[in-house]
Amino acid sequence: MKAVILCAGKGTRLYPVTLTMPKPLVPVANKPLLRYAIDTLTNMGATEIGLVVDSLDSPIRERLGDGLQTVGVPLTYIAQTNPKGLAHAVKLCQPFVGDEPFIVYLGDNVFQDRMDVLYRQFEETGASAALALTEVPNPSAFGIAELENGQIVRLVEKPKDPPTNLAVAGVYVFKPDIFDAIDHIKPSWRNELEITDAIQYLLDQGKGVIPYVVNGWWIDAGKPDAIMLANQLILEQLPFTPVDLQDPRIKGDSHVSHRVIIGEDSEIIDSVIRGPVIIGDNVTISNAYIGPYTAIGNNVIIEHSEIEHSIVMSFCTIKNIAGRIDASLIADNATVIHEPKKPNTHRFVLAENSLVQLS
Ligand code: DAU
Repeated sequence: MKAVILCAGKGTRLYPVTLTMPKPLVPVANKPLLRYAIDTLTNMGATEIGLVVDSLDSPIRERLGDGLQTVGVPLTYIAQTNPKGLAHAVKLCQPFVGDEPFIVYLGDNVFQDRMDVLYRQFEETGASAALALTEVPNPSAFGIAELENGQIVRLVEKPKDPPTNLAVAGVYVFKPDIFDAIDHIKPSWRNELEITDAIQYLLDQGKGVIPYVVNGWWIDAGKPDAIMLANQLILEQLPFTPVDLQDPRIKGDSHVSHRVIIGEDSEIIDSVIRGPVIIGDNVTISNAYIGPYTAIGNNVIIEHSEIEHSIVMSFCTIKNIAGRIDASLIADNATVIHEPKKPNTHRFVLAENSLVQLS
């Protein structure tokens, strides 16, 4: 079975991180967001995946290639050079998908649910579409479904006055008749071809659209806080790993709790690590505290500093920071240091939309 992941779009809500890295490559618990999408889809039975990307030169293609060596499933790239909405992206997938049912997955979504039941119910009922739904506290920010007798009867995209709090989450299963539905819709008030409107067209034609209420948490990881929350929820699922008192990577007067994963060629010197924490390869942590829900990428140096509930990507240096770093997203090659010198000044080299909070 084929599946497509929608990965185009600029990810502006994650600037400046996404100025140099597409959102699906942002690491969560040291794996790119996209990896969670691919794992969920293969668990649902996908054997070939199409990735809708901004351009065929996308860094996503550079990183994952044809998929076989990198993620164990063949990947095909579909360019959406001028993103005009989810329905537009899905329509571009028609030649890849052909005449079979297929799954659509929004590239910035992460689910606790393995989703296999969603696909099974779609097959058993013979419906034209199946949608993942979940209750949300802010329904105006999503596509919203109205149900009657357990069936979806109406969908509305980001309503001002939401009829329910049941949001359309980012996994859809379709029969190929969705392509004809997309041909019949017009751009919405936000000038996008909405997949919600195409599904409403199916409903208007009397086609069956079944709901599947998602088990567990769901994150639409479009903003820094949501990325951090996804990182926390995934690290919370780390299995119990006891402390290895003989681990040669742990040196001097260090205390490392259970549920701490340490990569190759990394060393912890005179430091405290309190899990759940994941640390990549070739990382040096010295005279530091790493607190719960922190993910540290490869080739990072952290000295004389404290950090928790944060994501530090690769090739970063953090040194001599007074006070604890918390809830932070620090992208590749960033340097955060305190150097005692006169005059006692702060110096910043910041990209657009950076945030620096001193207290
Ligand atoms: O997250 C769930 C929500 O996703 C649903 O409740 C809404 O019904 C649905 O319209 C969608 O709303 P968003 O406004 O959050 O979608 P967003 O623009 O963030 O796009 C979702 C993903 O699809 C994102 O990874 C970028 C990709 N995308 C988006 C557009 C507009 C494309 O690949 N092509 C596009 O043209």
